[in-house]
Amino acid sequence: MKKKMVSLVLCACVALAAAGCGGSKKFNNPEKGGTLIMATNAYFEPYEYYEGENVVGIDVEIATAIAEKLGMTLEVEDMEFDSIIAAVNSGKAHIGAAGMTVTEDRLQNVDFTDPYTTATQVIIVQEGSEIAGADDLSGKKIGVQLGTTGDIYASDVEGATIEQYNKGMDAVQALANGIIDAVIIDNEPAKQFVNKAEGLKILDEEFVIEEYAIAIAKGNEELLDDVNKALDAIIADGTVKGIIDKYITAE
Ligand code: ARG
Repeated sequence: MKKKMVSLVLCACVALAAAGCGGSKKFNNPEKGGTLIMATNAYFEPYEYYEGENVVGIDVEIATAIAEKLGMTLEVEDMEFDSIIAAVNSGKAHIGAAGMTVTEDRLQNVDFTDPYTTATQVIIVQEGSEIAGADDLSGKKIGVQLGTTGDIYASDVEGATIEQYNKGMDAVQALANGIIDAVIIDNEPAKQFVNKAEGLKILDEEFVIEEYAIAIAKGNEELLDDVNKALDAIIADGTVKGIIDKYITAE
């Protein structure tokens, strides 16, 4: 009996250590005056995209404003979208900002700040397509960006074949070339991509409303708190709205 107690206590200690009871040491948090590293996937205009060699866009500007509030300089790390959460959790990046939707599944692996905007998932088809809404997608070939919520929704469509692309624009190009029947993707990038291709349209139906937030390593309450405070401040003073309005013009 006594022996059992000892091992139980030992277990608890190991568990506590693993849970980071040693304070912020577990996380390699950026210092004041240091660099805040943002993981993103920079093929998602207007949230993040290349302008020459620089990554620009709504998320970059919001993260820059957050870094400024925290007395840090922002550095952007471009990677595949489905690597961002791992990069944040491993400490390779401090934050993930990539038009990333808060989902229950992701919340198992990563923490999210307060949301900074909402978006919708839309369906892109060829102009003459018989697909008029989500109900017509069954049995079709649907293109998505790998690991996105569009990918998840597509996998719920009965009898559909899913084609996963590393970039949203590659899915849209495949649609323009008649390789697939539809693309499910976020509304604002959808508009940008459709403008760059020929003969495509976005269906009116917005079938899921989502919230975008910034990803922080699971359990890193110190950084989550700092970033939330900065984010809340730039939402309250209109900075975030100003940034969004600069990139997205109301039609
Ligand atoms: N909102 C979608 C999601 O979170 C798509 C985000 C894609 N972002 C990007 N930078 N490629 O799954």
